[in-house]
Amino acid sequence: MKAVTWQGKRDVRVEEVPDPSVETPTDVIVRVTSTGICGSDLHLYEVLGPFLDAGDVLGHEAMGIVEVVGPEVTEVKTGDRVVVPFNISCGTCFMCNQGLQSQCETTQVHEHDTGAALFGYTKLYGQVPGGQAELLRVPFGNTMPIKVPEGPPDDRFVFLSDVMPTAWQGVEYAGVPDGGTVVVLGLGPIGDMACRVASHRGYRVIGVDLVPARLDRVRARGIEVIDLREHEDDLGDTIREMTGGRGPDSVVDAVGMEAHGAPAGKLAQSFASFLPDALQAKLMERAGVDRLGALYSAIDIVRRGGTISLSGVYGGMADPRPMLQLFDKQVQLRMGQANVWRWIPELLPLVSDGDPLGAEGFASHHLPLSSAADAYERFQKKDDGFVKVLLQP
Ligand SMILES: NC(=O)c1ccc[n+]([C@@H]2O[C@H](COP(=O)([O-])OP(=O)(O)OC[C@H]3O[C@@H](n4cnc5c(N)ncnc54)[C@H](O)[C@@H]3O)[C@@H](O)[C@H]2O)c1
Ligand SMILES: [Zn+2]
Ligand SMILES: [Zn+2]
Repeated sequence: MKAVTWQGKRDVRVEEVPDPSVETPTDVIVRVTSTGICGSDLHLYEVLGPFLDAGDVLGHEAMGIVEVVGPEVTEVKTGDRVVVPFNISCGTCFMCNQGLQSQCETTQVHEHDTGAALFGYTKLYGQVPGGQAELLRVPFGNTMPIKVPEGPPDDRFVFLSDVMPTAWQGVEYAGVPDGGTVVVLGLGPIGDMACRVASHRGYRVIGVDLVPARLDRVRARGIEVIDLREHEDDLGDTIREMTGGRGPDSVVDAVGMEAHGAPAGKLAQSFASFLPDALQAKLMERAGVDRLGALYSAIDIVRRGGTISLSGVYGGMADPRPMLQLFDKQVQLRMGQANVWRWIPELLPLVSDGDPLGAEGFASHHLPLSSAADAYERFQKKDDGFVKVLLQP
């Protein structure tokens, strides 16, 4: 089959790889019809190289049609239309039973002391072949696939694999009080969807980014936005002025470690990329070469006693400096990979009866799988309104 493979820093290629097959009796093989490129894939493209091998199949946002089922699969059958969550979770362990699928005890990667395995996501998360491919092997066929109805286009459902549950969890973890205000930093796919979710739930929402097309998309939905380019030095003050001098109740950081700014982090990161892989991996893990620009902004912006919810992914050790400010402001912090299945019961009605979050029309680009190399590059550069790309194998 054809699949998007990682080959090196900023180098992905569509190659011919062996078809997946049923390996355990509950496996399902899905013929992928739509598969997203995510901000999380940009970390693999840019900084997480030391944790990948050339040829690894990327992608964790897939949906399609069940093609083959293992002998013990009873809950889906050939021909069913399914969305595949990005966390690989058994659905039956202690963690899964509490809705903490990103911590699934059956798939935790003990070798690296990390949580649940993820599709297409480095050795730290199990090095499982991903969904930017014609076919995807899905384990736990009785509990993992999300069955969706025939009828509406893929775009209506595909964001259940990651974007919608991540945005939903981001807003939920932000603990916004009734009638409260939430600032969303970053208006990529995750931040854009978080704004939609928060506004759907009745909160006042202020979105921040520096890419005009992304600001426009969110503004077009009637949401207040701030262009970071005009407020590099006074973002916190500007937002405090807009929120009675106190700051918002909550901040969702939907940026993560690709943050614009934070030159010191950038320098360490480029330095790391000159070291041999093994050393680089250690440096990334231990020394902390994060770019913490957005996190620092969040800490500054949030009101005293408020909550920061991190959807953006951070790796390595955080600089301890903000501890003083976090403690002094009595800030609550929640974070983590989205527990996809945890939010599906709340989200399914929102993609079934009408489309209040605007899933259809959310993708800015639909491209064939064969255009993946170009799509990654343009998504990273935020070219030409490249906000959310769906690849079609
Ligand atoms: N927690 C999860 O389960 C989960 C799931 C999916 C994605 N993510 C993470 O969420 C983050 C966003 O993903 P995405 O797909 O929207 O990616 P993205 O890279 O397209 O979006 C990030 C946005 O942040 C903006 N930005 C950069 N620096 C900023 C700053 N200092 N202040 C405000 N905005 C800034 C960028 O212009 C960009 O629009 C990534 O870190 C990704 O890894 C987490
Ligand atoms: Zn994703
Ligand atoms: Zn589990």
